[in-house]
Amino acid sequence: MMDVSTLHDWRYSVDRQGIAWAVFDREGESQNSFSRRALEELGAIVEAVERGARDRTIRGLVIISGKEKGFIVGADVREFEQLTSEREVVESVSLVNGYLDRIERLAVPVVCCIHGFCLGGGLELALACHWRIATRDDATRLGFPEVRLGIFPGFNGTARSIRQAGALAAMPLMLTGSMIRAGAARGMGLIDELAPSPLNLPWMARRAIERKRKSKAAPLWKDLARQWPARGLLASRMRAETAKKAREDHYPAPFRLIDLFETHAGNLDGMKAAETRAFAPLMMSDTSRNLRRVFKLMEMLKAQAPKDLAFRPLRVHVIGAGVMGADIAGWCVASGMEVSLQDMNADQIAKGLAAQKKLFARKFRTKPLRDAAAARLLADPTGANISRADVVIEAIVERLEAKQNLFKSIEGKLKPGAVLATNTSSIMIEEIAAPLADPGRLIGIHFFNPVAQMPLVEIIKGTDTRDEEVQKGCAFVTAIDKFPLIARSSPGFVVNRVLGPYMMAALQRVERGEAKEKIDEAARTFGMPMGPVELADTVGLDVCASVGNILKIAPPGGSKLDQMVAAGKLGKKSGEGFYVWKDGKPQKAQPEKPWDKGELERLGRELVDPLIREAERVRDEKIVESADLVDAGVIFGTGFAPFRGGPLHFASNEVRSNVEVLRRPAVA
Ligand code: NAI
Repeated sequence: MMDVSTLHDWRYSVDRQGIAWAVFDREGESQNSFSRRALEELGAIVEAVERGARDRTIRGLVIISGKEKGFIVGADVREFEQLTSEREVVESVSLVNGYLDRIERLAVPVVCCIHGFCLGGGLELALACHWRIATRDDATRLGFPEVRLGIFPGFNGTARSIRQAGALAAMPLMLTGSMIRAGAARGMGLIDELAPSPLNLPWMARRAIERKRKSKAAPLWKDLARQWPARGLLASRMRAETAKKAREDHYPAPFRLIDLFETHAGNLDGMKAAETRAFAPLMMSDTSRNLRRVFKLMEMLKAQAPKDLAFRPLRVHVIGAGVMGADIAGWCVASGMEVSLQDMNADQIAKGLAAQKKLFARKFRTKPLRDAAAARLLADPTGANISRADVVIEAIVERLEAKQNLFKSIEGKLKPGAVLATNTSSIMIEEIAAPLADPGRLIGIHFFNPVAQMPLVEIIKGTDTRDEEVQKGCAFVTAIDKFPLIARSSPGFVVNRVLGPYMMAALQRVERGEAKEKIDEAARTFGMPMGPVELADTVGLDVCASVGNILKIAPPGGSKLDQMVAAGKLGKKSGEGFYVWKDGKPQKAQPEKPWDKGELERLGRELVDPLIREAERVRDEKIVESADLVDAGVIFGTGFAPFRGGPLHFASNEVRSNVEVLRRPAVA
């Protein structure tokens, strides 16, 4: 058995007042997550405190983080793959739950001090303590992100959060995976006391121990939701709400959580054991495995920006205040940068600045923060700020000569070391860079529309582009909270290249007379966030036609797509495309009788085939560095069914399962 004198991930000491301090500071990691070892060490600490409480040498326990940045981000997702059967999951989860139960039963007060992220397993540990103090600053966020990984809380957080906050507050928190601030958590009953700053935590914890503070369970009126029949009614309402956001066959975890609540929440102790039983199969499911893969792919994208780079972007200059430029500028401001926005048309700048107010209203809660953001966004009609900028992004018309002339005219004004980038979606970087004195400096930083909603940004490397510039581009994109994907300059880069054939093939089906509503529903049945016809209308049919031309896959002249573009029917933005749009929604005709589910599944698979094949070509041509990065780019750039783990991963699994079927011995 481990001993508290040999800990690696925790520091344990007992002070002169008899208060035990368990400081979580995971070795070799910048943030705390629960590895197996960290949990075993927690077990050793529990044992030491039990002994100290028995012989009266310990009067209380404080659990606190030793990391400056946060408390605990949850279980270490990297270690999940070590569990290979449901039995192993039950065993390892039960071990941890035993420790948490023993913490809860300690005869001395246990106080948990929280600053920064307190997520998943971290919040479950906090809920097993007797008193919870959290800093009220913006950096402190609490939540249960488990559903995003295809599971739900497994360290008895389901029962304990309902006990503390009541089902009406706790269930939505677990079902949506959203994060809340400390103030809101206090309002719910998940936190007992707010601290002005992390510096106050130790003495507040000491005071709570001296006063033997003990958190109370949710008051009766909040607890009523657990009683039958309220529970049944609430469960069916939650099922309906959840079904609006996720399909049960694709994302079962939230639905299993509602089942668990409905069947067991009447007896919270019984719910704990039922939680473990229901948790294990989810953990072993393909859905959860694939969602964990997506999580790792996201980390992989973020890790592309080298950590030791001296480049720290703070000032951005954007040229072109149209659809893209204005939103790129606004997004950079919302991420804390100072931005100047240039356009040859002063009205465009004014319109662009005004349009960002909506984003700032969403991003910033208080007026001073919103005003500060607006003050960081400057109109710069003459480009006076170019020489101060760390990053200059061009987003003017998509014409080679216009871009070349612009870059030639600004190259000499740049600060040494500043990033020079174009947002072009179709012109080769080396062509734009050709007339520059230093063509190796130019990179593509390709944002997607709408900028605020699309997490991926492609970083394009031209034939001559220096690696150092690409790395700086990645650092910039990471600093504005987007995921960079490094791609070689080639037609359509990655995202438009895989989307093009998928959308064109679907539009040709419509042209041949197939029902667009059925096509869209089939793609959604596969797991796409939106069907290809609706997507074409949303992107704009003019944009689709131009992507088709770039990739040389546009339908022959006189196609329905051409006719609609010529008639100004451009989709959502003009009010009509393949669909008629009302209040931002496509008007879809209902089928006379429901479509057959099997048929939708077959059609959905056929529809995504061109996308998968193109992703394979992107991999084979080494447009990006690895197959995993192709999957990452396609998931975050197109929304490709995350629970399927990416197009290449899906295709290789499909081949594997087909081979298994063929190998299975025929039954006599
Ligand atoms: P837009 O036509 O909405 O805006 C272009 C703006 O640039 C206009 O306001 C125009 O006045 C200004 N402009 C033109 N020449 C200029 C010059 N020499 N100096 C200063 N300002 C000048 O175009 P949009 O859609 O924003 O596209 C801009 C770039 O972004 C293009 O390269 C396009 O390929 C790319 N892009 C567009 C996407 C989209 O969905 N619209 C998505 C991703 C990239």
